[in-house]
Amino acid sequence: MGNFLKNKKIILGITGSIAAYKIYELIKLLKDAEADIFPVMTEKATYFVTPLSIEISCGNKVLIDMFEEPLSHIELAKKADIFLVAPATANLINKYASGIADDLLTTTLLAFKGHVIIAPAMNWRMYQSPQVQKSIEYLKNLGVKFVGPEEGLLACGEEGAGRLASINKIFESVVSAITEKDLEKEHIIITAGPTRQYIDTIRFITNKSSGKMGYALAKIAKRKGAYVTLISGPSTIEPPEVDRFIRVETTSEMLNQVMGNINKATTLLMAAAPLDFEPKKIFKTKIEKKSIKSIPLKLCPDILIEVSKLKKKPFTVGFAAEAGLNTERAKIKLREKSLDMIILNDIMQKDRGMESDTNEVLIIYRKGNKFFEEKTPLMSKEEIASIILSKIREIKLGK
Ligand SMILES: Cc1cc2nc3c(=O)[nH]c(=O)nc-3n(C[C@H](O)[C@H](O)[C@H](O)COP(=O)(O)O)c2cc1C
Repeated sequence: MGNFLKNKKIILGITGSIAAYKIYELIKLLKDAEADIFPVMTEKATYFVTPLSIEISCGNKVLIDMFEEPLSHIELAKKADIFLVAPATANLINKYASGIADDLLTTTLLAFKGHVIIAPAMNWRMYQSPQVQKSIEYLKNLGVKFVGPEEGLLACGEEGAGRLASINKIFESVVSAITEKDLEKEHIIITAGPTRQYIDTIRFITNKSSGKMGYALAKIAKRKGAYVTLISGPSTIEPPEVDRFIRVETTSEMLNQVMGNINKATTLLMAAAPLDFEPKKIFKTKIEKKSIKSIPLKLCPDILIEVSKLKKKPFTVGFAAEAGLNTERAKIKLREKSLDMIILNDIMQKDRGMESDTNEVLIIYRKGNKFFEEKTPLMSKEEIASIILSKIREIKLGK
């Protein structure tokens, strides 16, 4: 997480859809990101969720009636950064497209001049109707952003396109709308997670890497407008939405994917923890317990060494997991592997490094022969990712 919406004012429009109950989860995410939320409900929305609980969850007065505070629609429209309608009914979408302003929500929406994000939710028959499709097309042309709907089982028991987009996707579209697109010209390859090296058909060795740091980098790079290729080992967490997601299992597969895509990249972030060694021999069947005395190992290919041999290589960032923040070892690695930057993680503490949601890293980079070091505070991996990406941009632009 992180305070990515600090000082941002969001009008949250809620309409009369069965999906309205899901909005509490979204409110929590927005509040965790420190947004100031101003809820506006249609009268029909109050059949689905109570104004009292929405007001308490948002921490600001809920507005429904246009005449309760007569100029609230203009005041709200003037002060907000983002107007999010979630869930948005077919009725609301058609009214907004036609410029109808017959309640507080539609009137404020019409007066609002900032980013509008709409998350539709309805039965697939309503969604497929030419009226709704025409309204969505028209609003998209005006610059309104739509998130979802998704395909799946609908509240009425039918299957089809009409489900409210996932709460994470809606949240991401809000944060993305206010994030400066300062990596728009970048194609970033990010590796994430562990790799596996097989012993026999069902057994393998691996490590504790969760993929969280790499996934956070991919999410934030995407938010900042980069084209992102994410090459991931077997992580169990949900990958973020990126332009290309490539799943690999072994270190050799990761190496092949990095080398196969690197010529298009402007930056390579090696946040994965590929295994350094693998069994010398992979048994073709499940080995008998008694038949094994030891498992001889050999070194796996070193992806960063292979990258360093390239004549033309992108801005390359390595990640080092060390016991303690040993800067001398990190600097040697930086030189040996011809890196532009290295991110040092301390794996000896519980609330940072592998598996943890938070991290504290030392960013080491060089300009010519001079080394520079910057330590981040202990913060979420998304905040760390944001700092790393801003630093890369700064170095690349020579500022
Ligand atoms: C149980 C129930 C569920 C409904 N769910 C939806 C829905 O998910 N999407 C939708 O567009 N309309 C839905 N409707 C219809 C809307 O509530 C109706 O069109 C209403 O006029 C919308 O008003 P509003 O847009 O001002 O909130 C539902 C109606 C009922 C009775």
